[in-house]
Amino acid sequence: MEGALLWDEDHKEQYFKAVCDAGFDHVRLPLQFGGRKEDETNLTEEYFQAVEGLIEISLRHGLIPVVDMHGYQGINKDPYRFKSDFLHAWEVVADRFKDCDGRVLFEVLNEPSEELTADIWNEFLNEALPIIRKSNPDRTLVVGTACCNTIENLQNLVIPEDDRNLLITVHDYTPMEFTHQGANWCDPPFPKNIAWTGSPEEKQVLIDHLDLAAAWAKEHDRKLWLGEFGAFGEGEMTCRCNWTSFMVQLCEERDIAWCYWEFYYGFGAYDVANDCWQQPLLNALISK
Ligand code: GLC
Repeated sequence: MEGALLWDEDHKEQYFKAVCDAGFDHVRLPLQFGGRKEDETNLTEEYFQAVEGLIEISLRHGLIPVVDMHGYQGINKDPYRFKSDFLHAWEVVADRFKDCDGRVLFEVLNEPSEELTADIWNEFLNEALPIIRKSNPDRTLVVGTACCNTIENLQNLVIPEDDRNLLITVHDYTPMEFTHQGANWCDPPFPKNIAWTGSPEEKQVLIDHLDLAAAWAKEHDRKLWLGEFGAFGEGEMTCRCNWTSFMVQLCEERDIAWCYWEFYYGFGAYDVANDCWQQPLLNALISK
């Protein structure tokens, strides 16, 4: 499975068409049901209709949408303060979208992190799953690991053994010094002009990571989805492309589905100003 990503504002039909025409087969929709500020939710009919529109456009273009609970404000900093809001959000969202196409996936939470530790995340997740399952018994649900969906945290993930319809998601931006150079949301920021040359040593780090993930998936008999990977636009394009195509190769060799982060912002594979793909990056992702 191959994928691309679109933020909620960018639901222009032409972008979905471009994603489909390029050869991707799913889109991850990072949605802010949790609102843009703490103590705010987007559990409104207006927002739901916008999401419904995104789901419809995706399916119309043959793309399977992943409804991703992204940017849930506050939960990582003060988990117990937001626990009931989060569970309530899923009760409402799952019920509202229970009749949508059976291929649509729900992703429980993007990148649990900070104070939302592995133990607390396991607790929240295992309370959220039965809530979602009440209205969506047959839907594939995407669940991720703690510490920003890191591969190393697969071993800490606790999931119901008898729910076989879970897709396990991890994110990988290794090495951060390269993929996040110049990214202003990293504190302290990573310096610029860091190359990824594809040396045997550099490649081995990525191989070890993906091997760890694949071994976990085999042992637990679960399907894996690399739901985010990408190299920020401050890096040199040839390095970004080499890194990206190597990640794709590693995933495909290990039967790990993948989804590039992201469509047209800082990591963007699409050049929205000129309305065309960043062709070298697209080639790195999709070899036709
Ligand atoms: C996470 C964040 C997103 C960021 C990405 C790469 O998904 O939610 O804002 O761009 O990781 O760092």
